[in-house]
Amino acid sequence: MCGIVAAVAQRDVAPLLIAGLKALEYRGYDSAGLAVLEPGAIRRVRAKGKVREMEARYLAEPFPGGTGIAHTRWATHGVPNEVNAHPHVVGRVALVHNGIIENYAELRRALQARGHQFASETDTEVMTALINERIEAGLGLREAVLATVRELDGAYAIAVIDRDEPGHVVGARRGAPLLVGVGIGENFLGSDAQALVQVTNKVIYLDENDVVEITRDQVQVYTLDGAPAERATHESEVSADAVERGEYRHYMQKEIFEQPRAVADTLEARIGPHGVLPNIFGVAGDAVLAKVKGLHIIACGTSYHAGLVAKYWIEQHARLPVSVEVASEYRYREAVVPEDTLFVAISQSGETADTLAAMRESKQRGYLATLAICNVPESSVVREADLKLMTRAGPEIGVASTKAFTTQLAALGLLTLQLARQRGLDEARYLALCEQLAHLPRAIEDALALEPQIAELAARFIHRQHALFLGRGANYPVALEGALKLKEISYIHAEAYPAGELKHGPLALVDESMPVVAVAPSGPLLEKLKSNLQEVRARGGELIVFADDGATSLDGYAAKGAALSFESGGDFIAPAVFTVPLQLLAYHVAVLRGTDVDQPRNLAKSVTVE
Ligand code: F6R
Repeated sequence: MCGIVAAVAQRDVAPLLIAGLKALEYRGYDSAGLAVLEPGAIRRVRAKGKVREMEARYLAEPFPGGTGIAHTRWATHGVPNEVNAHPHVVGRVALVHNGIIENYAELRRALQARGHQFASETDTEVMTALINERIEAGLGLREAVLATVRELDGAYAIAVIDRDEPGHVVGARRGAPLLVGVGIGENFLGSDAQALVQVTNKVIYLDENDVVEITRDQVQVYTLDGAPAERATHESEVSADAVERGEYRHYMQKEIFEQPRAVADTLEARIGPHGVLPNIFGVAGDAVLAKVKGLHIIACGTSYHAGLVAKYWIEQHARLPVSVEVASEYRYREAVVPEDTLFVAISQSGETADTLAAMRESKQRGYLATLAICNVPESSVVREADLKLMTRAGPEIGVASTKAFTTQLAALGLLTLQLARQRGLDEARYLALCEQLAHLPRAIEDALALEPQIAELAARFIHRQHALFLGRGANYPVALEGALKLKEISYIHAEAYPAGELKHGPLALVDESMPVVAVAPSGPLLEKLKSNLQEVRARGGELIVFADDGATSLDGYAAKGAALSFESGGDFIAPAVFTVPLQLLAYHVAVLRGTDVDQPRNLAKSVTVE
């Protein structure tokens, strides 16, 4: 998703802005640009493609200046090209924007009627023109921004400069993230703390509808009605090291291998020899959980898959009804909310527009409370939830989510166990499940040891156009996640099915050109799964089977060299453990196919627009 960096400093800001944009590349984008104020002029450079292409243009003709704004754009209104790239400049004003303005067509028509000629197809140019109009009518930059954002419907994070007000940048946010970086004699704006990690670790998170004005020595926040407001300064925990790629070829590979550490951190000081520790979901969290009679879990993409696993877990062990739904559906339908239902939002970024909007919507729907399971402590989802459990995955840079998923499962495992104990799960069973969960980091380490064999297996997919993934029970969502990983980064069309559903349609697709990946941990459903695999074998499909050491009876089901088994650590944690070989498979297929693994085409990391 679009990224914003802005700076006011004594030194030249263009190199800082470019470094900030590079730190935001992980969000996904298709063009980049920056604008800097020179006395009496706005200097701007933009390019379609990567930040380094824009940087090369800048370096060919660099310009000095201590006030600037910069942007990576992920196209929404208008194709990705230089004309639509930000910053947009109208008259005295340059502006960068992340989000979507819903009433832009109407505002655009009104501006056209007043004689404005648009250079681009973007909603952003509309905002720029409106601010410029007000400045030309005599308002200062801050007043012009305030008056303009009051007329906007939709979501925005913006940074704006005025040619005739050097030394000032004005930012504003609603429904899209923006924070202030506080430096010494210089201040910054950024889409997230990572953008600013090279210049400061002191950050101010803006609230919804805030407008902020930064100069070299001052940061002043205003509410939408123009009244000054106080916002606390935090020390950001994001470190430059955490966003280094180190010895790994891609961030995704690094993040896959960080999973034992990330899961261990997520469990640390939350589970002990006697079970889940008290109130890990927040002060009085256990009292709220004790009242819960059902759960609605809302999320998108990979986080949604984590929710699906939790449904199997919570219904089995806590005997509470759970519904799981993608946020973009939930927010627009009239869900029935039985009494004492807990709303659970799962999100890596905590800024996903649909998830955030669904959570806001839930506040009108009579839930007992909201719980956020999230990786970014100061994100909007976390700030607006009643209860929270942070995953401690650390920054996830690869667009395809990996360690975020397994840490979400660790967090949801804790939730399951706490709910189950409160509802009288047999103590011996409870402690056995706790032991399994505590063992998850080790089990993931064992699964990672399969990498060399998986890299070999990946060769079977290079020329394939399609693949099927099968699982049953709590491992069906694992198949969904495996298919999502493969399609996202290798561009191979992949579908996942609960294995028992195969003969109700998808079996028609199976022939010798169809690889079928089966997630086959031992357990009560293994015999059923084997019958489904027979159905595939009988149609000549090429089976690739991931089994655990207890499932040796699967020998002979898969093609030669295509059955891998390992120690899964138990049926409860199997979904988290079996995800790992599927992540590695997708990763190695993508590497062999030569795709842009960390920034796959058309995708963005943090989807802050609807
Ligand atoms: C897939 C992926 C996306 C995200 C989804 C939700 O690899 O990364 O499907 O899971 O966009 O994002 P968060 O978890 O940040 O709400």
